[in-house]
Amino acid sequence: MSIIHDALKKVEREGVYQEPQLPLTPSLTKEGGVSSSPVTGKKGGGFSLHIPTLSLNKNLLGVDIGSSSIKLVHLACAGGACRLKDVGYVKLPHGAGESGAAEALKTLLNVHGIGKSRVSSSIRNKSLTFSHIKLPKMPKDDLTEAVRWEVKKGIDFPEDAIIDYLVIDELMEEGKTKLSIMTFAVRKDEVMGHVGILKEASLIPDVIDVGPMALLSAFDYNYGWEKDKRYAVLDIGASKATLSIISNGSLRLARYIPMAGDDITRIIQDAEGTDFQAAEDKKLRYAGVNDAPEVVQTAVKSFTEGISIEVRRSFTYYQAHHREGWVDSLLLSGGSANIKGLAANIGNAVGVSTAIYDSMKGVEVKRALPRGTDITRLSPILVEAFGLALRREGE
Ligand SMILES: Nc1ncnc2c1ncn2[C@@H]1O[C@H](COP(=O)(O)OP(=O)(O)OP(=O)(O)O)[C@@H](O)[C@H]1O
Ligand SMILES: [Mg+2]
Repeated sequence: MSIIHDALKKVEREGVYQEPQLPLTPSLTKEGGVSSSPVTGKKGGGFSLHIPTLSLNKNLLGVDIGSSSIKLVHLACAGGACRLKDVGYVKLPHGAGESGAAEALKTLLNVHGIGKSRVSSSIRNKSLTFSHIKLPKMPKDDLTEAVRWEVKKGIDFPEDAIIDYLVIDELMEEGKTKLSIMTFAVRKDEVMGHVGILKEASLIPDVIDVGPMALLSAFDYNYGWEKDKRYAVLDIGASKATLSIISNGSLRLARYIPMAGDDITRIIQDAEGTDFQAAEDKKLRYAGVNDAPEVVQTAVKSFTEGISIEVRRSFTYYQAHHREGWVDSLLLSGGSANIKGLAANIGNAVGVSTAIYDSMKGVEVKRALPRGTDITRLSPILVEAFGLALRREGE
């Protein structure tokens, strides 16, 4: 997937992003414009603020600004193998807005001695929505219009939306060829806000992507594909979980599940009558150990049951919609993947082999890590930033 033309025009028109020496030149990614053919995945997607540059093929700095933390990954990749050059992680204060995120990002970059750099970043997603639709096969331009029409009907910001889509399947229904399509929609002002955070920290947004596409790129590097096997990655952050189903190098389903680590914290907070931070501290102290206090166990159990129901429901939908088998394997990423027993318990409830995602699989890491860094805990948290960091200048 690709570019969202009106967003880029808006960026140019409003001068939200300006690079004095190099003109902003929107151009199609390899996958080409608003996609009308299945994406084969390797290079991720989103829309690209694509700037002509002489020094091609250097890896971009991957920047994942989540609701509770910022992650940076910088890679040096050659001949299909990557070395970790730098990794950065900072927690954000609870409820930090755009200015809080921008300040924290600046500090993190300072600590790492990172100056003006070209980056690949994923959209902070307050309004980002995914949906799945089927439409009759038609010429690309007509399809683009038809998708826009369909998507606008289902969102409450139709006039302010950036819309893109992927054709993920072609199938026969009632004797007619239909396209199975995944759509993405996000508010333009949120994209501009995100670009603003990066710019305020002297970063140059070369690529803006959506989380599931970054996960797809990461998986392609870390694990690789077995033909016709279906994999799922469940990223459980602080404010939401993102479920992506991928197969044969392509994203097949993406869905937000509105429950994540903050919900566990809130259950503890309510039970104990403390403030959010005290409950969060308690969760972090005990969620990784066997003999956690009952209040933590109860909160984790309730969360596990809820999210397992949603994952199972999504797998069932996927199976029916695509007329395929059950998902073969599930990987958990995001900070909440570190909760002891969560992967095994979700796996048992859903009926799928489950493990914690290791974003450092196949990566040479040693030299980049400050002494004492717990890379095992950090590894699932870095997945999205890692996928973003696989993107290269000029690609
Ligand atoms: N060791 C741990 N044990 C339990 N929970 C943890 C641990 N480490 C982090 N978390 C939880 O993970 C969440 C943060 O994960 P992450 O940094 O992936 O989120 P985010 O990317 O900032 O959020 P989002 O993706 O929702 O915007 C928080 O709820 C935090 O409490
Ligand atoms: Mg996240």
